[in-house]
Amino acid sequence: MCERIVLVVAVTLVTISFVGDCTAKIAPDFIHPCNTTEPACLIKATRDAIPEFAKGIPSLGVPSLDPFVIDELPIQLPGIKVTFREGKASGLRKCEVLNVEAFLEKNIFNLQVKCNITIKGKYTAVGRLLLFPINGEGESKIKIINSIIGLNIKTKYYKDSEGRDHFGIKSFKHTFDYGERIIYTITNLFKGNPELSNTVLQFLNENWRVVTEEFGQPVVDYALNVTISTAKQFFDAVPIDELLYVPIPSY
Ligand SMILES: *[C@@H]1O[C@H](CO)[C@@H](O)[C@H](O)[C@H]1NC(C)=O
Ligand SMILES: *[C@@H]1O[C@H](CO)[C@@H](O)[C@H](O)[C@H]1NC(C)=O
Ligand SMILES: *[C@@H]1O[C@H](CO)[C@@H](O)[C@H](O)[C@H]1NC(C)=O
Repeated sequence: MCERIVLVVAVTLVTISFVGDCTAKIAPDFIHPCNTTEPACLIKATRDAIPEFAKGIPSLGVPSLDPFVIDELPIQLPGIKVTFREGKASGLRKCEVLNVEAFLEKNIFNLQVKCNITIKGKYTAVGRLLLFPINGEGESKIKIINSIIGLNIKTKYYKDSEGRDHFGIKSFKHTFDYGERIIYTITNLFKGNPELSNTVLQFLNENWRVVTEEFGQPVVDYALNVTISTAKQFFDAVPIDELLYVPIPSY
């Protein structure tokens, strides 16, 4: 009698571990799911995940965010057209996580990070920037120091073909505080006139806040679009029960 029970228990355990192997974990090991939605745990989990997540997860089709490639980004502003090419943005893996909040019932997810970001690439610029007529083509580097990025994401839930629940991203809003300082290093703003190029570059750096307000927005929008679509790919691949050990509301 007693032996029979032991046998049944043993068979059950073997079955459980077998089932466990069958539904192999999809989430990478750097995902440390929280047992609650307390910000303290979410902040820590996000902190643990960012450096690895930013490298990309090829097995899940999630591209790298650090560096991330900007093939071509045309920016048409009143009076000037700037085009970035062969650009690379780096630094996201070192972002400091300031806050993370998840409201599962309200479908809201908030994230606030502080980042140093460097964007490097080729550019062309034709038109006027502030007071100066510009016709430049060369290399550019933009160094953004201690910027504060806030993401306010409206989520949804959906089931995949196996019936497992996933997060979806319905929409998002962002805030961007340019932070302490932005340093521009731009060569050849005026073709063939290095003295004027340097003078104007110096002017741009002395007035970095105004300059950035003029053309920073499209760059930030682009970068956040890339980030959000990367997050979407990740959430499509990994079910909620591997991200968070908290029951989600029925939907
Ligand atoms: C969640 O709870 C489990 C079991 O008590 C524990 O092993 C794990 O460390 C907890 N996770 C976190 C992130 O606190
Ligand atoms: C950004 O760089 C500055 C200056 O190098 C440094 O003091 C600061 O801690 C960095 N911030 C982050 C979020 O890494
Ligand atoms: C960002 O994505 C939205 C929606 O897909 C799109 O309308 C917008 O043009 C994109 N912005 C940039 C800068 O890529």
